[in-house]
Amino acid sequence: MTKVLTEHWDQPRLHELETYRRLGGYEALKKVLGMDRAQLIDEAKKSNLRGLGGAGFATSLKWSTVTPEEKNPGPRYVVVNCDESEPGCFKDRVLATRNPHQLIEGLLIAACAIDAKQNFIFIRGEYQIQYEILEKALAEARGAGIIKPPVSIDLMRGAGAYMSGLDTALLETMEGKKAWPRQPPPFPTASGLMGRPTVVNNVETLCMVPSIVLRGGEWFAKLGTAKSGGTALFSVSGHVEKPGVYEFAMGTPLREILAAAGGVKGGRKLKAVIPGGVSTPVLTADELDTPMDWDGPRAQGSFLGAGGVIVLDETTDMVMVAHNIERFLAHESCGQCTPCRQGSYWYVRILERALDGGGVAADLDTLRRTGEDMTGKVICALGDTVGLVTRAMMKKFSNDFKAKFHGEPPHG
Ligand SMILES: Cc1cc2nc3c(=O)[nH]c(=O)nc-3n(C[C@H](O)[C@H](O)[C@H](O)COP(=O)(O)O)c2cc1C
Repeated sequence: MTKVLTEHWDQPRLHELETYRRLGGYEALKKVLGMDRAQLIDEAKKSNLRGLGGAGFATSLKWSTVTPEEKNPGPRYVVVNCDESEPGCFKDRVLATRNPHQLIEGLLIAACAIDAKQNFIFIRGEYQIQYEILEKALAEARGAGIIKPPVSIDLMRGAGAYMSGLDTALLETMEGKKAWPRQPPPFPTASGLMGRPTVVNNVETLCMVPSIVLRGGEWFAKLGTAKSGGTALFSVSGHVEKPGVYEFAMGTPLREILAAAGGVKGGRKLKAVIPGGVSTPVLTADELDTPMDWDGPRAQGSFLGAGGVIVLDETTDMVMVAHNIERFLAHESCGQCTPCRQGSYWYVRILERALDGGGVAADLDTLRRTGEDMTGKVICALGDTVGLVTRAMMKKFSNDFKAKFHGEPPHG
């Protein structure tokens, strides 16, 4: 299988400019300097690249919606989203550690696509090593004249909030405010950082860009499926023999990804897989043939998310898993929307009571109704997630819930 991002991961000192250049690094940027904006965006369109931060938004469309400089004079920005706080996801951390220049090159190409001069990498506060690696790589690129005035890239550190990974909350954080999502419209491409057009792209998305420019959008598109171009990284964790980051073509069945990670740890039976990080609804062991692209998990009521594949074996109690995830979401809820602030707290309390032996069947109804009442009544996806993840577990693993919520449900 063709590897786009992991091809050179076995090369020593890949994080250094000299190695990156020896392997063809920064050639794509040279090529882009001879292209106009429309050509570059067209190549991205042909590639069918969709944002790998979790939402799957077409990258070319995002870039193309930024009004050209001549029609809207003034600053415009590209911001790299390296917040990566979704439990189960760690691919951006590995990309930033192993190949920081690939990210810098992708960012500089995106800057050409929207004519941005000032650019930023927003990095999760806990990623200290990656911050240092990126700082060094940026200094190397500046020293070699790859980043030169008027173009700049600055590193900015988050302060440990999951919510800062959501693009509009990230922009608030960058402006020195608390990480409260904005209610679009306007979208960041129209009014983002300091009210100016801003493209927020995920680390992995931008790392794909140099190869697309060098080898062509069509080449990239063909690696994946009709609606999901290229490859993707999967962070595989949980009850597996070989946890780690694996690259696969879009559309690869989940079964193959699990096999690459050595299968279920200790030869135990598989119970469930969370396919895209904790905010994506669970899949059962019978759903292992799900193609991992933007449509596959969706057909099973879930999402590809950011490719954080969490494997759970037969010893797992799904009520405990639901409680663990809801505790995280309640803690990270920014509190701006009442349904999310209160609903996530209810989920934690009800699940906690069940784990302590005090669950009653009527509580299952409350969980269902609370989730339904929250959906679509909040500004960002976190509020929807609270209801979705537990309700999927209740539906697909009803026996685990029956064992902890006693008595007859009031409504049959
Ligand atoms: C609660 C929440 C947290 C998010 N965290 C991240 C994150 O850490 N990194 C990321 O790239 N996208 C994250 N996103 C998605 C971003 O809002 C946005 O869609 C993404 O950065 C856009 O980049 P892309 O188009 O290249 O995927 C998050 C979304 C939500 C709702």
